[in-house]
Amino acid sequence: MNRLQAEARIRELHAVIRHHDYLYYVKDRPEIQDSAYDRLFAELKQLEAGFPDLVTPDSPTQRVGGVALDQFPKVAHAAPMLSLDSAQAETALRRFDERVRKGLGVASVDYVVEPKLDGASVELVYEDGVLARASTRGDGAMGEGITENVRTIAAVPLRLRESGLKPPGLLALRGEVIMRVDAFERLNEGLLAAGKNPFANPRNAAAGSLRQLDPQVTAARPLDIYVYDLLSGEGAALSTQWDVLSALEAWGLRVNDLPRQVNSVEEIVEYQRELESRRDDLEYEIDGVVVKLNDLTARKVLGVTSHHPRWAFAFKFAPRKEITRVVEIVPSVGRTGVITPGAILRPVKLGGVTVSRANLHNREEVARKDIREGDLVRVERAGDVIPQVVERVEEPGRKRAKRFRMPDRCPSCGSGLIERGPFTICSNSYRCPAQLAGRLEHFASRDALDIDGLGEETAILLVGEGLVHQLPDLFEIVPNDLMRLEGFAAKSAASLVNAIDTACRVELHRFLYGLGIPEVGVTVAKALAKHFQSFDNLRQATNEELEAIEGVGPKMAQHIGLFFLDKRNSAVLANLVGKVKLLEVAMDSGAALAGIRFVFTGGMDKLSRREAKQLAESLGAKVTSSVSRETGYVVVGTDPGSKYDKAIELGVEILTEQEFVQLMRQRGAEV
Ligand code: IVH
Repeated sequence: MNRLQAEARIRELHAVIRHHDYLYYVKDRPEIQDSAYDRLFAELKQLEAGFPDLVTPDSPTQRVGGVALDQFPKVAHAAPMLSLDSAQAETALRRFDERVRKGLGVASVDYVVEPKLDGASVELVYEDGVLARASTRGDGAMGEGITENVRTIAAVPLRLRESGLKPPGLLALRGEVIMRVDAFERLNEGLLAAGKNPFANPRNAAAGSLRQLDPQVTAARPLDIYVYDLLSGEGAALSTQWDVLSALEAWGLRVNDLPRQVNSVEEIVEYQRELESRRDDLEYEIDGVVVKLNDLTARKVLGVTSHHPRWAFAFKFAPRKEITRVVEIVPSVGRTGVITPGAILRPVKLGGVTVSRANLHNREEVARKDIREGDLVRVERAGDVIPQVVERVEEPGRKRAKRFRMPDRCPSCGSGLIERGPFTICSNSYRCPAQLAGRLEHFASRDALDIDGLGEETAILLVGEGLVHQLPDLFEIVPNDLMRLEGFAAKSAASLVNAIDTACRVELHRFLYGLGIPEVGVTVAKALAKHFQSFDNLRQATNEELEAIEGVGPKMAQHIGLFFLDKRNSAVLANLVGKVKLLEVAMDSGAALAGIRFVFTGGMDKLSRREAKQLAESLGAKVTSSVSRETGYVVVGTDPGSKYDKAIELGVEILTEQEFVQLMRQRGAEV
C-alpha cells in the first residue's frame, strides 16, 4: 500500500472505529462483535506503524498516550465555571423561582430539570471538532489541565460527530466525570484485595482517578461522563438549554437521559421526589436535581453573582450521611476465609434505609480510622453500596474503649489464623462452617444460580443444621428436612426446594461464577464460558489458553488452574456437575436479539422473572433494571411500577407477558 492509499484507509478506519466507539460507549448499543472491532483496530495500528507521520491526535489509537507528569499545568477556562446556589428546603426553591420571575418580569417561566450528578466537574474544549483541552474546575477561573487523563475516558469523543448539526469552531463544554456504583465497588474490592486504601465514595473515586499524574492509571479506572452545559460556543445558534442538550447529543457526547422540561415549582418538587425515590435504582450517584432556566437569552438578563448564576439552582436531597455510635465490633468469616471486622451500629436512618451495621474491611482499616467500640462515627451510603464508616467523630473528654484486636482463633471453627498483608485469614477452607455457608450463599446469589429464598440467613441455617456439608448436598434437600428447621413451614419449604430444582438448569457462566473461583467475577465467568463452551474444556485448559482470554491475567489464570487441580475441589466438582444441567447460551451478536435491552416490571403469570430473563438472554438480549431511551422493550406484568410510566413517557415499546412469549417463540426460543 502506498502512502496515499494508506492515508485514505486510515481516514476511513478513523470514521468507522469512531462510529462503533460511539455506539458502544455513548449509546450502549454496539452493532458489531468485539472481534470485528478488534480487527479494525489492529488494522489501523498496523497502518500507523508503517506510516508514523500519519498518526493524528484524534486517532482512536491515541487515547492512552501521554507520559506521566510531575504536576498538572494551570489552564484558564473559556468561561467561568461557577458553582450552584443550593438548598434542601422547598422554601429556598420557591424563593429562587420568585427571584427568577421577578427579575424577568413574567408570571411563569420554563425550566429544564436535570439530575445533580455526584462526580467531578470538568471543562472540555473542542477546536474544529477535535478535543483540544480538558481541565478540572479548580477555583472556577483556572483549573488543572487533565487533557491526557480525560482522553482515556472512552465515552469522551476525541472528535465530534457532524451528523446534521455542525459544531462551532470553538466549543467549551461542561460535564461531570462519574464512576458508576458497580464499577466503584469493584475498584474498591480490587484496592482492598491489594491491601490499598479504598475510596470513600464514587465521587472521590472519580475525582481521585482524574487527578492521577500518570494517564495509564486513569485509563485503568472505569470512568464515565455526562455533558450538560455549554460554557461557550459562538455560532452554535442555540436558544434554550433543551436545544443545548439535543445538540450535545447530536455531536456524539454522552448526555443524561433524565432531564425534563417543566414550568412550575410543583413540577420541580415532583421531579425531585421522583428522582429521590429512584435514587437507589440508578447506576450512578446523584445528590439532588439542578433547575435551569431554559431560555438562554433570559439567562443573560438575570446574570451571575460572584459565585453562582442567578438562573440555576440545585435542589438537593437529604444527605445520606449520619452520625451514630458503634455498639460492638464483631469479626465475621467470609467464603474465602478472610475475617472481616464489622461494626454493629446504633440503628440510624440513611436516605430512607435503616442501617445497623457497617463493614470495617480489615484490621489495618480499623487501625487507620482508629475506630473502637463505643465511638461516635460518621456513616455514609453511596448508591446501594453497603454503608461505610467514613470517620470517627471526636468527643473530647470521653473515655474510649481499648483498641480493637483481631481474634487469635477463627470465630466459626476455632482454627488458628494467618495474617496476609492487612488481612487475617482462616485457612481451614474445607471444614470451616462459616466459609461453607458463605460459599453456599454465593452459589445461590443473583448472578450465580439465583435461588430465590436462599440468602445469608438460610445458608447459615442449612450448614449449621447439618443439611449441607458440601455444595452438592443442596440438591438432596427435601421439604421434610426443611420443615424441621426454625422459620420454615410447608409452603416455604416446598418453595425453596422448588427454587433449587429450577436452578439445576443453569447457564455455564452462572455456574462458574457461583463456584467462587478466586478472582473470577461475572465478566470473567462469561468470557470463560464463551471461550470454552463446556465445563470440561475449561477444567482442562492450560495457563496459556486461559491467559489468551481477554480480562484474564497470569495471576487469575494461576488461580483458576489451582482451583481445578486441588483434589478436594475436584471430588466436589465432579459430584456437583452430576447434579446440574449446564446450558449453553448464545452470547454472540449473531443471536436473534443481540444487544436489545429488556426491562421487566410487575408480576408475571406463567414465567418466573428468572425464566423470563433467561429466555431473553438466551437470544442474546440484555436485561437491565431501569428504563431509558436505550431500552428496546418493557415487559409489563400485573401491578407494574414506575418503569411502566417511564416506558410510556419515553415511547419505549411495551409488551404483555403473552406478547413477550410470542416474540421469544418467533425468534426461535423454545417456550
Ligand atoms: S450546571 C453554573 N448541571 O454540581 C451551572 N451542574 O455545585 C453549571 N453538577 O460543580 C453547572 N450535575 O459539577 C450542572 N446537571 C448538572 C449537574 C451539575 C452536577 C455539579 C457541577 C457543579 C456542582 C454545583
